[in-house]
Amino acid sequence: TLPQYTIKDVSSSSSSSSSSSAMPVLQHRQYRQHQGFWFEPYMMLPGVMAAQDHFVPRPSDILICTPFKVGTTWLKALAFATLNRKDQPGKQSLLLSHNPHHCVLNLEFNLYGRNRLTDLTVGTSPRLLSTHIPCQLFPTSWLSSGCKFVFLCRNPKDTFISYWHFANKVLKDVQYKVPLDDEFDAYLKGVHMAGPLWDHVLGFWNASPVNPDKVLFMKYEELKSDTAVKLKKLAEFMGCPFTEEEERDGVLEKILDMCSFESLRNLEVNKNGTADISHKYGNEVYFRKGEVGDWVNFLTPEMAERLDQAMEQKLKDSGLSF
Ligand code: A3P
Repeated sequence: TLPQYTIKDVSSSSSSSSSSSAMPVLQHRQYRQHQGFWFEPYMMLPGVMAAQDHFVPRPSDILICTPFKVGTTWLKALAFATLNRKDQPGKQSLLLSHNPHHCVLNLEFNLYGRNRLTDLTVGTSPRLLSTHIPCQLFPTSWLSSGCKFVFLCRNPKDTFISYWHFANKVLKDVQYKVPLDDEFDAYLKGVHMAGPLWDHVLGFWNASPVNPDKVLFMKYEELKSDTAVKLKKLAEFMGCPFTEEEERDGVLEKILDMCSFESLRNLEVNKNGTADISHKYGNEVYFRKGEVGDWVNFLTPEMAERLDQAMEQKLKDSGLSF
């Protein structure tokens, strides 16, 4: 089933939210730094702070954790379809009529925020939720809760290009065109939603070997090239491995097909629907090209080199590379 929660209006009582409830028009790159990471201050930051203050994970929770534009939509679809495959087999999947972001709600955008505290105690277990909050900002209670974190990241150059396209699409209402050079300079400084990217990624990279049963670290490119193997690993990690019988019956392939870029993008709900509570834009913004290496069509070799060097320098000695 889709998550059903009660949303409380806490306009006069939330300590985390700012006193003004008027939501100004989103201005591009008006980011604010919070505990070392950058967030959009009107929609996202109040949600981040409220989630930090109020979200109480259950040991059975599975939290999808991602920087922006790394394939969150895809991972949500795969995880949701896999977890719910018995209740919603094949054509009964809610993913065919609902956008993945509607099926797997995000803490800071959907559940907590300015004047918004959702009562999560009513939901059944296991809960599949998501967040863009870096793990360095997780309260210690989240890390010790026993809940599982699935992290996905992507080649930084593709992540950036996807981010830039997305910014242009969501800001089309305010008739603002985001110049690539300006966005790139900010990105190189780490000033973007839930950035710096290198710190965001490193947090989960370092946490994963310490808690391999609790933190699964994945890369978009590996998910693309080896989707079946990675999906099996994801199912095992989530505690619902595919049985031999399911594999024989093609259950895994059906999930892969249903969650493929082409299938999801061509669903009516993702062509013409709108996802959710707080977003003002259509679901189609989540499906652009879904390719590896598209950055080459937008970045000059010099820009690519600068981003590569910045990442290499930040990730050096970590054993992580892209
Ligand atoms: P591009 O902009 O490079 O096409 P997020 O979901 O985190 O916002 O990331 C969006 C990126 O994931 C976009 O990348 C989008 O096209 C891609 N994407 C969405 N659904 C996908 C799917 N089913 N398979 C592969 N990539 C997908």
